[in-house]
Amino acid sequence: MKVLENQLIVIFGASGDLTKRKLIPALFELFRKKLLPSGYAILGVSRTLLNTGQFREKMIGELQVNSGDQSGITGEITAFSDLLHYISIETADPGSFSKVKEKILELEGTYQTNGNCIFYLSTPPGLYESIATGLSSQALNIHQSGWRRIIVEKPFGSNLSSAKKLNNHLLKCFHEDQIYRIDHYLGKETVQNVMVTRFSNGIFEPLWNRNYVHHIEITSAENIGVEGRGGYYDKSGALRDMVQNHLLQLVTLVAMEPPTQIHSLAIRNETLKVLQSVRPIDMQEVEKQVIRGQYTSSTMRGKKYNSYREEPGVGHDSRTETYVALKLFIDNWRWGGVPFYIRTGKYLPTKVTELVIHFKPTPHRLFCFDSGRFNSDNQLVIRIQPDEGILLKFGMKVPGSGFSVQDVNMDFHYADLSQDALPEAYQRLLLDCMQGDATLFTRGDAIEQSWKIVDPVLSAWDSNPDIPIYGYPAGTWGPQQADILIEEPDMTWRYPCKNLTDDGIYCEL
Ligand code: BG6
Repeated sequence: MKVLENQLIVIFGASGDLTKRKLIPALFELFRKKLLPSGYAILGVSRTLLNTGQFREKMIGELQVNSGDQSGITGEITAFSDLLHYISIETADPGSFSKVKEKILELEGTYQTNGNCIFYLSTPPGLYESIATGLSSQALNIHQSGWRRIIVEKPFGSNLSSAKKLNNHLLKCFHEDQIYRIDHYLGKETVQNVMVTRFSNGIFEPLWNRNYVHHIEITSAENIGVEGRGGYYDKSGALRDMVQNHLLQLVTLVAMEPPTQIHSLAIRNETLKVLQSVRPIDMQEVEKQVIRGQYTSSTMRGKKYNSYREEPGVGHDSRTETYVALKLFIDNWRWGGVPFYIRTGKYLPTKVTELVIHFKPTPHRLFCFDSGRFNSDNQLVIRIQPDEGILLKFGMKVPGSGFSVQDVNMDFHYADLSQDALPEAYQRLLLDCMQGDATLFTRGDAIEQSWKIVDPVLSAWDSNPDIPIYGYPAGTWGPQQADILIEEPDMTWRYPCKNLTDDGIYCEL
């Protein structure tokens, strides 16, 4: 790791949820691991009227709750809180940015940060443009000797045209190489490991193409509802919230060509090419290629779950999808004709994110499997979370006379590699930005390309009220109509469990 230069981070939206749940805990962990530079300060900026002391108190409280009774932690939290500062401004008013400049100049002097500064936009997205304008109006977007970077949280736009507008606006205030569009999935160790699995091993890559792969399945299931975020979620829905960003990122990593080197430009060029090769979904085909659902009330193990429409902030007749399943094709030499099945949903039976490579069956069928099938069902499961690891499924002879064959699982669990807990995605991404490494951030052209993929679906849903939205009881695997996406006989979605190797059995909500 490069030695980090002294620097400042300015968090807009500092009184919000993301700051207390993710950003401050991630920065605290970096502090504990002694990864922050000797001159480092965190400036929280938000509309909420607080002073630095009150902000520190709030963050200390959150960190204490998160860290339970780990010994010695209180001292570390107190030492960390000395780095925290706060000002309140009218964020929507670019005129109030002189106050931000004044405070930055003061902190630069105290912490010797030489002008190096990251601006983190963690506000509602409607404020991104006015913050960028406010920063450039005070010439905070550039610095003669140090560097200035801006991290932009998701959602980055709500469709192609708004994403383009935001990109254009940001590019008037910052250069592309100063802009870090964050997608926390790219900060997950196991997501980065997709590239390592593919490109550091000779055994997988020869099979990783249309000659051997039957289809690819990507699931990101959550066993929670919208958790008080109904106001935001109802305007977003699963396609915008999960597919346009996180799941398309997973598609790019599983489908990309080997980059020429592990370098931001080379990797981002390859991932962009995948997005450019995704076959556009015809608006007339949306009903067949994309299934949407919304959770309805249910009772599981004696506990009642409200329907989505009963959630605070959600319209009683909302047609926002809390589940989506879709079929995509990537029209290039490697993947021509291989379907990619993608699904995500709230209130599914368990929390799990995984990529599954389903291999083609043997060309000649010699054995009958115990399951009654004649096909091998070779799968490579890359488990992103939880119980992170890899599972390979293949047929083995059952001991005894004859040739009875059974599917067996060979598994590797990340936990066996290191006792250390996997670092939170935000730790990795913040550290990368501090070092100026944009590899795990999304480039503007890739964001626009991913909106091009989902835009026809959004437009079809908007313009054609006859496209159904299916109800599914909270705690089930989504609407049954999603099964017809997988057209192959005898093939279904996988039903993964929280534990990697327990797939196919009943999972609790
Ligand atoms: C966020 C979405 O980006 O990702 C949430 O807005 C979702 O709705 C979350 O719950 C899922 O992230 P993870 O890391 O828990 O899979």
